[in-house]
Amino acid sequence: MLRTHTCGELRAEDIGKRVRLAGWVHRRRDHGGLIFVVLRDREGTVQVVFDPSVSQEAHQVASQVRSEYVLQVAGEVVQRPAGQENPDMATGDVEVRVDKVEILNEARTPPFYIETEAPGDEALRMRYRYLDLRRPEMQSKLMLRHRIISFIRRFLDARGFVEVETPILIKSTPEGARDYLVPSRIHPGHFYALPQSPQQLKQLLMVAGLDRYYQIARCFRDEDQRADRQPEFTQLDLEMSFVEQEDVLRLTEELFTALVDEVPSKRILFKPFPRLSYEEAMEKYGSDKPDMRFGMLLTDLSDLVGGSEFRVFSSTIGNGGRVKGIRVPGCAGYTRKQLDELVEFVQQYGAQGLVSMALTEEGIRSTVTKFLSPEELDSIVARMASETGDLILIVAGEKDVVAESLGQLRLEMGDRLGLRDDNILAFVWIVDMPLFEWKEQENRWDAMHHPFTAPVQEDLPLLDTDPGAARAQQYDIVCNDVEIGGGSIRIHRRDVQEKIFGIMGLSLEEIRSQFGHLLEAFEFGTPPHGGIAPGIDRLVMVLAGEHSIREVIAFPKTTTAFDLMFDAPSTVSEEQLKELHLRLDLPDE
Ligand code: AMO
Repeated sequence: MLRTHTCGELRAEDIGKRVRLAGWVHRRRDHGGLIFVVLRDREGTVQVVFDPSVSQEAHQVASQVRSEYVLQVAGEVVQRPAGQENPDMATGDVEVRVDKVEILNEARTPPFYIETEAPGDEALRMRYRYLDLRRPEMQSKLMLRHRIISFIRRFLDARGFVEVETPILIKSTPEGARDYLVPSRIHPGHFYALPQSPQQLKQLLMVAGLDRYYQIARCFRDEDQRADRQPEFTQLDLEMSFVEQEDVLRLTEELFTALVDEVPSKRILFKPFPRLSYEEAMEKYGSDKPDMRFGMLLTDLSDLVGGSEFRVFSSTIGNGGRVKGIRVPGCAGYTRKQLDELVEFVQQYGAQGLVSMALTEEGIRSTVTKFLSPEELDSIVARMASETGDLILIVAGEKDVVAESLGQLRLEMGDRLGLRDDNILAFVWIVDMPLFEWKEQENRWDAMHHPFTAPVQEDLPLLDTDPGAARAQQYDIVCNDVEIGGGSIRIHRRDVQEKIFGIMGLSLEEIRSQFGHLLEAFEFGTPPHGGIAPGIDRLVMVLAGEHSIREVIAFPKTTTAFDLMFDAPSTVSEEQLKELHLRLDLPDE
C-alpha cells in the first residue's frame, strides 16, 4: 500500500503516529522557510508541512510541486501550533511533518481550480469531467447516488425481488420517444433499437413466472433534452405479478419513505403520499407534476366573467376558453416594471397577457378596474379569498394555455416568495389518467403512458364507444414539480391488447410485426401484473437538492445530446460504413 491513512482521516488521537499519505496537491503556500501543502483525496484534506530543518531534500521537492500533482508523503502527525488550528477542516487540529516525499505524477495547470464552487462554464466542466468529478461536491453527489442505489437493492432483495439484466440490443419498445438505432453488420439493412425502457422484457419475465423483478436499467431515448432529460438515463425498473394498483403504490411509497430517512437533510411533507386525479392536478396546479410544497392554487373565474363588458374575458369564454387566477400574498406593492416582467413571463408560455389586481389599503389597483363592474371585481376577490396586500394574477385563454402559463407563473411566484424549500419533499401520486390522448397532427389516438397499460375495468366498454373518456390503471409519482416515476397495471389478455393497438390506428400487419412476440406470449398463461419505473437520475437530483440531472450523472451529455469529453457522436470511417452497408445522405450545411 502506498498509504497508511487517507487524507481525511487524521485526528488529534493520531498525534505521534508515523503515517504515509498519498493524494493530490490541493493548495500550496510557500512561507520562505516552511512550505505548507494541503493534500486531498476522496476522504478529505490534510495539511502537510515541509520544514528544511526536518528534511532538506523533502523541502526541495516540495518547492517544485504545483496544484494537482500527485504526491506520496511520509512523516509524523503533530499537533498544530496554538492558534493555527483550522476548525473548517476535519483534520484541522493536526498536520504532518514530512520527512520523505515522492512525486508520483505531475499535472498540467488545470483549466479550473478543484474547489467546492463549480466553475461557471458548464461546457468546460463537461470537457474536463474527470477534473470536475474531483471536486468534493461532485464526489459527494456520486456517493449519494451510490448509497441510494445500494439501499434500493437491499430494500428490494429483502422483499423477494430478483434482479435480472435485459438486453440493450433489441427491437423498438415504444415509450413515446424516438429510438436510437444500431445497424446490423450481419443482417444488412436491419437495425436493432436500444430500449427506451425494459417494458416488454419485464412483462415477459412475468409471463416467465419470475414474480417480482427489478433492475437498475439503462434506457435510451432520442428526444429533446431538458434539465431533467438525458438521451441515456437510469431507471429503477420493477414489475410484480398478481398485484393490483394499490400493491404497487404501497411498495413504492414504503421504498421512498425508507430511502428519505437515510438522507438527513430531507423531510417528507405528507405521509401517506396524497393522491390527486390527473384532472384535479391540471385544474388546481396547471400541471400533471404539481409542486405541492405550497398552495396558491389556480382558481377558476370563468363563470364570474363570462358575461363581462371586458371583451378579453367574455370573448375568451365565448370561444370555449377559460379565465383563471392565482392569489399571491404580500405582492400588492409590485411596481409597473415588475408587473410588466410577469406579463412577459406568461407570454413565454403562450398567454396573450396577464391581468393583475393589487388589493391595496386604498382599494383595488388594476388596469382593468374601468372595464369590470364593481360586482365583478368583488366576486373575483371573494372567489379568490383575497385580503389586503394580495396581488391577484389572471390569465384568459385556451384551457391548455391557461394551465401551462398560470401553472408556471405559480411556480415563479413560489420561488420569489421562498416557498420551494429543497429540503422539503412533497411526494404526490397522480392517478386516474386518461388511457389515450388525441394526436391532432396524426389524427389518431395514442397511449397516454404506453400501449401496455390496462384500462380501468369498468371503463372497458368505453373502448368501443368513447376511447377518450376511458381511464387507465396508471400512476405517476411526483415530487416537487418533478415526475419521478410512472407505472401501470398491464394488459394481460391478448384480445384487450389487440384492441388497444387497433384504437391507436395500428394495422393488423403492424401489430404482428412489432408486437407479435408479446401477443403470442399472452396466449401462454399470463398472470395479472403491474409495475413502475422511478427515474434514478431524477430521484438522486431531488435528494441532492439539485435542479439538473447532469449534476448527478458522472458523464452526462449536453442539451444537444453531445459528449464534450469524447467528442461524440463522431464520424466513422468509410470502411465501417461499408461493412454496415450504409451510405450517408447528409443535409446541406
Ligand atoms: P416512463 O416513460 O414514464 O415509464 O419513464 C419512467 C421514468 O423514467 C424517467 N425518465 C427520464 N429520466 C431522464 N431522462 C429522460 N429522457 C427520461 N425519460 C424518462 C422519469 C420517468 O418518470 N416502462 C415505463 C415504466 C412502467 O410503466 O413501469 C416507463 O419507462 O423519471
